[in-house]
Amino acid sequence: QTSRTADTRAGIPVADITATGPGPAPIQQAMDLMREHGPAFVRRLYGRDTLFVGDLDLVADLADEQRFAKHIGPGLENVREFAADGLFTAYNDEPNWAKAHDILMPAFALGSMRTYHPVMLRVAQRLIASWDRDAGAGKPVDVPGDMTRMTLDTIGLAGFGYDFGSFERAEPHPFVESMVRCLEWSMTRLARVPGQDCSAQDAAFRDDSAYLAQVVDEVIAARTGTDQSQADDLLGLMLTAEHPADGTTLDTANIRNQVITFLIAGHETTSGAMSFALYYLAKHPAALQLVRREVDELWGDAADVEPTYDEIGRLTYTRQVLNEALRLWPTAAVFARQAREDTLLGGRIPMRAGDSALVLTPMLHRQPVWGDNPELFDPSRFTPEAEAERPVHAFKPFGTGERACIGRQFALHEATMLLAMLVHRYRLGDHADYRLDIKETLTLKPEGFTLALTPRTSAD
Ligand code: HEM
Repeated sequence: QTSRTADTRAGIPVADITATGPGPAPIQQAMDLMREHGPAFVRRLYGRDTLFVGDLDLVADLADEQRFAKHIGPGLENVREFAADGLFTAYNDEPNWAKAHDILMPAFALGSMRTYHPVMLRVAQRLIASWDRDAGAGKPVDVPGDMTRMTLDTIGLAGFGYDFGSFERAEPHPFVESMVRCLEWSMTRLARVPGQDCSAQDAAFRDDSAYLAQVVDEVIAARTGTDQSQADDLLGLMLTAEHPADGTTLDTANIRNQVITFLIAGHETTSGAMSFALYYLAKHPAALQLVRREVDELWGDAADVEPTYDEIGRLTYTRQVLNEALRLWPTAAVFARQAREDTLLGGRIPMRAGDSALVLTPMLHRQPVWGDNPELFDPSRFTPEAEAERPVHAFKPFGTGERACIGRQFALHEATMLLAMLVHRYRLGDHADYRLDIKETLTLKPEGFTLALTPRTSAD
C-alpha cells in the first residue's frame, strides 16, 4: 500500500502512507516499512516527511551530543499540551529543563533506590495479594492491567506520597483513564486528515488534561505547608531543593508539570516492560527455569519473601530477561534527534540545522549486530561478556545522552524485584495460548494478555 520514490535529498526511499494513514499501530507499521525499505527511510504523510532510522551506524552518529540533541517532534509537542515544560517535553534550551534536571538527578542515582525500595516492596505485595485472590478463585489475571496498577501506585507513593489505591478498584483509577486518553489523543492527532473536524476530540482532551492537573494540584496541596513538605521523595525535593548554582527553587507551575510528567513517564513504560517480560517467560520454559533457579538460590522455598535492596542487585539473570524483553519491545519505541548544525548523518545523509530523525528502537534492536535470529528471545545476549563485546549504541531502550531516561534505575529496580517475586511464587499458566497483540498508546503493551496462576510447590 505504499509508494516508493527517491528522496531528492540523498536517494533515501520514501514510503508515502497518505492513502492508508498510520492506523492504530504506527510503530509496528513503521517497523514493517523499515523491513521493506531498509534501515533509513522517509515516511510521508499528507506531504509531511519523517526520517526514520534503525541502522546502528546512523544511531551511533545521532548519539553524538556535539552535533545532535533531543528533538521535540510533533508527537512530543502534543504531549507538551498537558506536560508543558516537564522534564520529558521541555525544549533543550528551556531554563527549567536544566534546573529541574540538576535538582532531581540525585534522587535517581542508583544509591537512591535504597530509599524507594520499601515502598516498591509494599506495592509488589499488594499485587501479590491480589494475584493470590485471583489464583485462589481460579480466575486468570490481567497482566498489563495489574502491572499498570502496580507501577502507578509505586510512582505515586515513592514519588509523591500519594496512594492511588489501584488494587482496591475494579476499574483503573480515573487519573489513569484520563491519562491514557490524553496519550491516545497525542497519538491520533498525528494522523489527522487535513480539514477534518476534531473539535469534539479536542474538547474531550481539554477536559481530561484539566482533570490531570486537578488531581496533581490535590497531590501537591496535600503536602504544601505540612511537615511532610520536607519528605525525602521527589515532591519533597521539588518543593524545597535549591538549585546548587543560584539557590532558586522550582516554581509552582513547573512542579505541577513535573508531577504529571513523572506519573506518565514513570508507569506506562515500566508496566509494559514487565508485561512483555512475563509474556516471554510464559512462552520460554528454559528461560523461566533459569529465573527459578536464581530466585530459589536466594529464597529457597520460603512462602512470603521480602527481598532486601541488596538482593535485587544479585538477580542478574532476571535482569537479563528484562533487558531482552526491552530489546524486542522497547516500550518507549522511538526517540527523536535534531541536528545542531548543518551536517551529514552517517557521512551520507544531508541534514540542515534543526532537521530531525526518529530512531525506531525496536528495529535498531534487530540489526545484524544482534546475530542471525534477532526475533529469538534469548536473555544470554545480556551476559556481561556479551555486553562488553557489543557496540554501546546497539541497545537504546532508555534513549541517549543527557536527555536519556532519568528513571532508568527506578524502573529496573522495581521491575527486577517484581519479576523475581512472581516467578518465585507462581507457575505461569499460558491458559489461552496467547498470541502477541501489541497495543500502542505512544507506549507499547501486550493487549489482552492473561495468565492462569497456580502456587508453586517445592516439586516445581
Ligand atoms: C525519558 C524510556 C521508565 C522518567 C525517557 C526516554 C526514553 C525512556 C526512551 C527518552 C525520550 C526522548 O529522548 O525523547 C523509558 C522506559 C522505561 C522508563 C523504557 C521503563 C522500562 C521511567 C521511569 C521514570 C521515567 C520509571 C520516572 C520515575 C523519565 C523522564 C524522562 C524520561 C522524566 C525525560 C528526561 C529528560 O529529558 O530530562 N524514558 N523510561 N522513565 N523518562 Fe523514562
